[in-house]
Amino acid sequence: MNIDNKDPILITGAAGFIGAALSIKLLNHGLRIIGVDNLNSYYDKNLKLNRLKNIERNSSNFRNWNFENISITNRNKLKEIFYSYKPRVVINLAAQAGVRYSLKNPQEYINTNLVGFSYILESCKEFEIQNFIYASSSSVYGGNNKFPFQEDQKVDNPLSLYAATKVSNELMANAYSHLYKIPTTGLRFFTVYGPWGRPDMAPMIFAKSIFERRPIDVFNFGKMQRDFTYIDDIVEGIYRCCFKKPQLSNYLDSDSKKDNFLNVPHQIFNIGNSKPVELLHFINLLEVNIGIKAIKNFKEMQLGDVKKTFANTEKLNKWIDYSPSTSIDKGVELFIKWYREYYNY
Ligand SMILES: NC(=O)c1ccc[n+]([C@@H]2O[C@H](COP(=O)([O-])OP(=O)(O)OC[C@H]3O[C@@H](n4cnc5c(N)ncnc54)[C@H](O)[C@@H]3O)[C@@H](O)[C@H]2O)c1
Repeated sequence: MNIDNKDPILITGAAGFIGAALSIKLLNHGLRIIGVDNLNSYYDKNLKLNRLKNIERNSSNFRNWNFENISITNRNKLKEIFYSYKPRVVINLAAQAGVRYSLKNPQEYINTNLVGFSYILESCKEFEIQNFIYASSSSVYGGNNKFPFQEDQKVDNPLSLYAATKVSNELMANAYSHLYKIPTTGLRFFTVYGPWGRPDMAPMIFAKSIFERRPIDVFNFGKMQRDFTYIDDIVEGIYRCCFKKPQLSNYLDSDSKKDNFLNVPHQIFNIGNSKPVELLHFINLLEVNIGIKAIKNFKEMQLGDVKKTFANTEKLNKWIDYSPSTSIDKGVELFIKWYREYYNY
């Protein structure tokens, strides 16, 4: 599909790690963006505000940027935004993220990830959105131990409430897509890292403690594996999906046809690096780039965590002719370069 700057793209969670990087990319491609975020204090709000400033600094087309500080759980305000900007494409990245926090504060996940998500779907229906893209997660694979993870594997065994909300989003999106023929794409992100990252995730937690020479908790004795995926690769994948909407009868191959027998314009893709890295190796790369040895506090596996993630991205590759490819060595180098500059280390 063609999109020009008269067709605004609405991005929720625009002050977040992925949303802010995506906003810069789309603005620099001449597109008009409406960013929505409630700037909540789940983690350092200043980082979110600075990401917004960074969007202004790094966008050649800053006049194409509008920001609205609202919650997607505010149904009326959300509707007003759809009504006044008339977006053609909607990308929902707003969510209460984090697996561990969902054990402590389940209600936030219900409010934003389920109720808020349902309001987004309702608005997509009412305003006849041409292409709806939303964030899912590798966590939907739960305790699945058949690697690499493939989109047609069962996802009915989530290990946390966070994962359960992401599985639910996929089902809700499928229902709306079936009922109202909204072209819908779900992207299962695999452990995203890089500049402007999330302070609640291991790369940022570890980097901070290593710089400050404080001990780090290494769960499952460091034997966990994650398919770490560099932020620019994630953003490139989302960008390409904006221009390719699932259509009725738009089948990739006979396998997808079998799965999609109801002919629903909804597709789900893994987006990950397809090279799982052991946690201890990741920590070692941080140590090398920071130039300080980590003090490691080995611990048992945490409730809700999975041992390994590993994306098969063949389906995505066929769809948009792209798969993430930034090496972990390069990605960690760029991440630590940014970290030093941002936090003045
Ligand atoms: N970063 C990853 O590794 C990863 C992996 C899998 C899935 N995801 C998913 O990708 C999406 C983006 O993740 P991220 O890493 O950028 O997270 P993030 O927390 O940095 O960004 C989410 C943004 O949404 C905003 N938000 C939360 N609740 C809101 C609400 N009710 N209304 C409006 N805004 C709200 C937050 O303020 C935040 O800025 C999320 O849906 C997340 O679940 C991320």
